[in-house]
Amino acid sequence: MIINEENVRKIIPVAGGKGGVGKSVIAANLGILLSSYAKQTVLLDLDLGGSNLHTYLGIKNRNAGIGNFLSDRSIKFSELLTNTPYRYLRFVPGDVLVAGLANMQQAQRNSVISKVERLDADYILMDLGSGTGLNVIDFFLMSNSGFVVTTPQTPAILNAYSFLKNAAFRRLQRTCTSPKSVVTYLKDVVREKQPNGTPTIRDILKKIRSISAPAGKAAKEAISSLKPQLIINMADSPEDVQMAEDLRDLIARNLEINIGCLGVIYFDQSVNQAVRAMTPFVVHSHDSLAAVELDRIAQKIVHSPRFPDMPIDPNEYESSFELAQVEAENDFTDIEQEADTAEGGDLSVSHEEYVAIIAAQKQEIEQLKGTVRMLTMNQR
Ligand SMILES: Nc1ncnc2c1ncn2[C@@H]1O[C@H](COP(=O)(O)OP(=O)(O)O)[C@@H](O)[C@H]1O
Ligand SMILES: [Mg+2]
Repeated sequence: MIINEENVRKIIPVAGGKGGVGKSVIAANLGILLSSYAKQTVLLDLDLGGSNLHTYLGIKNRNAGIGNFLSDRSIKFSELLTNTPYRYLRFVPGDVLVAGLANMQQAQRNSVISKVERLDADYILMDLGSGTGLNVIDFFLMSNSGFVVTTPQTPAILNAYSFLKNAAFRRLQRTCTSPKSVVTYLKDVVREKQPNGTPTIRDILKKIRSISAPAGKAAKEAISSLKPQLIINMADSPEDVQMAEDLRDLIARNLEINIGCLGVIYFDQSVNQAVRAMTPFVVHSHDSLAAVELDRIAQKIVHSPRFPDMPIDPNEYESSFELAQVEAENDFTDIEQEADTAEGGDLSVSHEEYVAIIAAQKQEIEQLKGTVRMLTMNQR
């Protein structure tokens, strides 16, 4: 396991639970941006069974990838590294050429993990699949501060929550290998269907502590060392940060994990246009809002020597969420101004429409908040 903040070489898994939230498009474009700061970057397509990172990079998938490595012993992992049109960026394809690896064996997973950990680069970005399978979770847990991409919609928020809950549980299972009573308890938790759903990580930690104090201490440390970083993608208003803050509070309460927020990326048509043109959006429309926002995230990574701890001035911002909120509000002003300009002289009509849209969004946000609150109460 690599603890990001103590290593020069940073492993960054990009996960999120839900499909279609933008994990791959963010991983590909973030890889290009990190490499643009002359940082040696390796981008890996670890969405086995659904590899498509090459299309977001705009390159043809002709080279051997993870699939070939796992099915042919004569292939060395280093042979998978292919050059890209970007000087400091190398790419490891997934399993497009040799498929059927969605259900990798643990030994295969461990083999990939140990090779990735030995890669020589400043940043190692891994695009992961959707869902909460071990293929995703074990790669995610290679770092303590993996990225979780979510949209502000409730299904994605809930998936991000359950993804982190599953990841935390997996971390506990791997940490608590003794005494036997704790191991048995953790096995039973999975097997037994509780009337109110599975207990929270907080409850599980409490129980482990009551069985064995040393195991309880180790378990607590294993969980609190996790510092996942949230990226809110396809946002449509600054209020979406509030949703993310609700998620943060829920995760802190139930999972005893403190998550950070790397930033907000608004829904931006230029991302879709670039995808259609099979070109990365940071190249296709490098001055689009989404490109500027993703570059801001790249800069936070590059300029934080103890990443994920960002050098935020505590006198100015209380947390990474507050900074993301301010950024999202500023960006929204830009969107408003652009909308006004696009509307030309007919500002009064567009303004009314605009107010109506905002009101509808606010109502939706209130409803979503209610759902998250309900979820919290059920977990208690
Ligand atoms: N900020 C954004 N604005 C507009 N469209 C986006 C944005 N982010 C992602 N998309 C679109 O969402 C789709 C799914 O993205 P993808 O990266 O494949 O999701 P995932 O890897 O999470 O399944 C893509 O077609 C992409 O164009
Ligand atoms: Mg994907």
